[in-house]
Parts: sequence; C-alpha cells; structure tokens
Amino acid sequence: MAVFSRIAGTGSGLPEKILTNKDLEQFVETTDEWIASRTGIRQRHVVVEGETTCDLAERAAIAAMQAAGVTASELDLIIVGTTTPDLIFPSTACLLQHRIGANGCAAFDVNAACSGFIFALSVADNFIRAGNAKTVLVVGAETLTRMLDWSDRNTCVLFGDGAGAVVLKADTQAGILSTHLHADGGKKELLYNPVGVSVGFKPEEKNAGVRVLMSGNEVFKHAVKALDSVVDEALEANGLSKADLDWLIPHQANLRIIEATARRLEMSMDQVIVTVHKHGNTSAGSVPLALDEAVRSGKVQRGQLLLLEAFGGGFTWGSALIRY
Ligand code: UT7
Repeated sequence: MAVFSRIAGTGSGLPEKILTNKDLEQFVETTDEWIASRTGIRQRHVVVEGETTCDLAERAAIAAMQAAGVTASELDLIIVGTTTPDLIFPSTACLLQHRIGANGCAAFDVNAACSGFIFALSVADNFIRAGNAKTVLVVGAETLTRMLDWSDRNTCVLFGDGAGAVVLKADTQAGILSTHLHADGGKKELLYNPVGVSVGFKPEEKNAGVRVLMSGNEVFKHAVKALDSVVDEALEANGLSKADLDWLIPHQANLRIIEATARRLEMSMDQVIVTVHKHGNTSAGSVPLALDEAVRSGKVQRGQLLLLEAFGGGFTWGSALIRY
C-alpha cells in the first residue's frame, strides 16, 4: 500500500524582542511609510545577545511535537532548513536533536536559503514515501539579523528571526500530494553572502563580508516569475485547478510578491496567510511560521488543500501541495 506523509503537528519559535520600523528610523535612513508600502513589513522579531537559531528551532520543535502527540524517542529523522546555523558544524539539526533528547536518529541541515523549509519538507516526504522513516521533525529556523549590515537600508529593513516546525507521520492517506524543487546557481550574485570557509575568512576586515548582498529589484522580478511557474507546476502535476485551492501559504518576503502569486492563482487575499507585517522575511522560518499561525488560528481545517511556496538565494524555489 502506498505511503504518504501527513502533517501531525506544527509549532513556532519567535524571539521575544521586537524591532519596529519606527525603531529602524532611529539608526538608518528610512521611514515606516517606505518599508510598509514597498514590503508590507511593520515589525520583525530579532534575537538578543546569546540567542541562537537552535534556541528558536527548539521552541518550534517542542510545540510541534506536543501538537502531534509525538515524543523525541519516536523521531526517525530531524531535518533543519537553515542558512544561519549556530556553528559551521555540527549541524543545527544535531544540536537540536540533543536538546530535545532524540539522540540516535538521523539529523542534518539543508541549506536552500529562503526555500530551506520547502526543500527540507520535500526531503522528509521522500524519506517517508520510500519507507525509510515514519516520523520526521522538519524545521525552518533562521537568525538572518546576525548577518545584516545595519547601515545598509537596502537589506537591513527586510529581515527578521524565527523558526517554524512540523512533525510528519507516515499514513496511508495523503498528506503531502507533491513537492517541486528548483535551483539556478547562475543567479548567485543577485542574492548572497560572500563569506565562506573555503573562499577564506578576512579577519583583518572586521565583519567585512558578514552581510547579505541583494539586488532587490532583480530578485523581485525573478521571484514573481519563478513562483508563477512553480504554482502552475504543482497544480498540473496533481490534475487540480486553481479553484480547488483553499489556502496559499507563501514565503513572506514582500507583500507585493505574495499579492502577485495570489492574482496568478485567482485567489482572494482572504485565502492567503500573511505574516510578513509581523515577522518580516525570516527566510527558511517564514513558511512554517505562517503554516503554524494558520493552523493555530483555526483558519486551516483538516481536509483542506494548501499550497506552500518559497523563493530565495541560490536561486532556489519550490512548492508543496498538501491535503491538510
Ligand atoms: O526572500 C528572498 C527573496 N527576496 C526577495 O524576494 C526580495 C525581493 N525584493 C524586494 O522585496 C524589493 O525589491 C525591495 C523591497 C527590496 C525593494 O523594493 P523596490 O520597489 O524594488 O525598490 P528599489 O530597489 O527599486 O528602490 C527604490 C528606491 C531607491 O531609491 P532611488 O534610487 O529610486 O532614489 C532606493 O535607494 O528606494 C530606495 N530605498 C529605500 N528608501 C528608504 C531602498 N531601501 C530603502 C529604505 N528606505 N529602506
């Protein structure tokens, strides 16, 4: 009998500290009006000294496991989508595994920038479908604010910190209907962080490379186009039409990008989960945070059809069509 993945529980982990657009006005040349009208962002959560990606992932994971009624010993696999790991190694998934007491199960990170959760979800779904795992913890967790140049108004106003998690369980009923992943390494320069291990650190230039570099307008155009095609691809692969969709749960980078995808799908904004005004762009955290909010607010009901999508550095982009 075919095996599918079902979402058994969801959870969130947000830092307590909030930075509003008005706060940003104090130290960078910007305005609440510019940020809100160009992006939809009003505030973002930010980590404080000592608070890490794993701290946020742990909160989200525990909430998702409680919602799913799953204990740490039942987990076969932990996958964390992140571009801002606590350390270069071990992976944040390994750190998280020990924190929650799931020692022994497989654990690894996936780096696909803002698409990290969709990529991690897809890997987990494939493990379950292949019969190699029954219960999987999938997390998207980031502390992007750790690598922002706070004097660069082009980027520092856009990002926030946070984590979201789901527990997937094997089931005879779908569940995740399909996932679709894409990447184009040819567009690297449009959105990246130049710091790396093997390209060499430059300690003499303090924090010289520790920053997100983005050609915002170019990324915007590529994102809208890629998301248009990936949502079409997901519906076609399942023989479903736009009208079958109950909810769009998009990556939260920019309200205008979200609205463009909703228009493409002929969906009213009432059917779109929006958190960008509260969270900013939390990269791999954004889709699972939005999903958890949709579930806990009672908006998303069992049996409904959800389309998740994301676009990010790499470029990477992808979707997941889910019968919740
Ligand atoms: O999650 C990963 C994927 N990332 C994204 O999807 C982000 C995609 N890009 C975007 O969301 C948008 O392109 C931005 C929000 C980054 C920028 O919006 P835009 O409408 O594309 O603006 P722009 O880059 O064309 O800049 C317009 C103007 C410029 O001034 P001039 O050259 O027209 O005089 C900028 O210098 O806005 C200026 N500007 C700002 N002004 C006030 C840029 N940042 C700011 C700022 N405050 N924070």
